[in-house]
This record gives sequence, C-alpha cells and structure tokens, in this order.
Amino acid sequence: MLSARLLAVCSLIAPCKTLVDVGSDHGKLSSYCLKNQICEYVIATDIHELPARRTKERLDEDGFSDKSEVLFSDGLTDVHLTSDMTVVIAGMGGLEICKILKDALKKEEGIPEGTSFVLQPQRSHYEVREFLSQQGFSIRNEKIMKEKGHWYSSLFAVYTKEKYALSEEEKHFGPVILKERPEEYGEYMIHQKKVMEKRALGDPVCREILENWENLI
Ligand SMILES: C[S@@+](CC[C@H](N)C(=O)[O-])C[C@H]1O[C@@H](n2cnc3c(N)ncnc32)[C@H](O)[C@@H]1O
Repeated sequence: MLSARLLAVCSLIAPCKTLVDVGSDHGKLSSYCLKNQICEYVIATDIHELPARRTKERLDEDGFSDKSEVLFSDGLTDVHLTSDMTVVIAGMGGLEICKILKDALKKEEGIPEGTSFVLQPQRSHYEVREFLSQQGFSIRNEKIMKEKGHWYSSLFAVYTKEKYALSEEEKHFGPVILKERPEEYGEYMIHQKKVMEKRALGDPVCREILENWENLI
C-alpha cells in the first residue's frame, strides 16, 4: 500500500500511456501506477545505483519487467520525452526539481508541448511555482495534505510554452489552492501563517502578505 503522500501524487495523474517516475527510489509509485492501470508503461530513473536497482527488483517481482525500464541516470537526461507522457517528480527539493526541468528544456529535443508533470517538492514551493510560470508550464491542479505533521502540496502542470505571471500569494500558497479552497484550506493557512511570520522577519513581501491576511481566509 502506498503512503497517503504518494496516493496524493497518484490522484493527480490522469491515465496515460507512459509514466516517467524521476527519483523512483523504492519503485513503489511506479508499481502502483501499473497495478492500478494509471499507466501502461513506466520509465523509472534514479541518480543513485542502489535505488535504481531497488526499483528494478520491485518491478520484476511485481511482474512488470516487460512493462517497465529502469534507468540509472540524472533526472530526464536519458529519457526521450513525448507529449503523451506524464512525468512524476516527487519527494525531492524544489530547487532540484527546477534543475531537472531546466536541464530537460536545454536538451536538443527540449520538452514537447503538451507533456504533463506531477510535482511534489519537499520544500521551495515558491521557487517551483515561479519557475513553472516563467518557463511556460501551466498549473492546472493542486492538492494539499498533511502526513505525520508535515504539509505536502502536489501539483499537476502541462507544458504549454506560454509564460504567465503569478502573484506573490499564488507563488507561496498555490494558485489553484487559493482559488478552490479545498477542505484542508483552513488548517493549511494556519500553518502557512506561522511560516510567513518567520519569513516576515527578513522579507518585506511576506510582511505585506501578513498585513493583508484577512483577504486570504
Ligand atoms: C526521498 S526519495 C523519494 C522517492 C519517491 N519519489 C517518493 O516520493 O517517495 C528521492 C529519490 O530521488 C533520487 N534523486 C535525487 N535527485 C535525482 C535526480 N536528479 N535524478 C534522478 N533521481 C534523483 C534519490 O536518489 C532518491 O532515490
């Protein structure tokens, strides 16, 4: 069974032909998606040899040898992306996620328009959302959830090449979360207010957001 955190990631994946699981580690998400027919084929990548081997063993044990390939490589370096793929990058820092996407954009074939992404950064959500808006990834859905006292936000984005602007509040808390205010919103914003209070000590933008907090609740 997957953790609630990874189930939140899976809930954002629309059924697809090929899922690319970047940083597959134990291979649990890859195997779950094949078992539950969320995808037909998995390309799993991990930058470290042991997790790549672990992923391969799990997929083989679960009977998915012919429906998967595991690459011991950095990010999307060795993946030839096509627009019908969904790329999942979860459980790593936001800056690392931005680097993986930046490197993929720099490749000769780049990222095809229409490619889908499900991202769950462990931190630096602000930087991830800013990067996505500036590089033309349209944020279409977001989920928040709490597991073992830690808040996670995950997002679904499509690479459209159309750049756009996000407000400071949208970069901090998520454009879809602010618009749709899911049932966890109240508790999430209590947590975010505490984060803002710490950041406000050195960041005037956070101070301004706090001064207008009533607009967010
Ligand atoms: C904390 S685990 C998260 C695993 C899984 N995605 C999850 O969310 O539970 C992070 C994994 O990403 C791998 N990783 C880190 N940077 C990577 C990169 N640039 N490319 C591929 N894998 C990477 C690590 O080796 C590790 O196995």
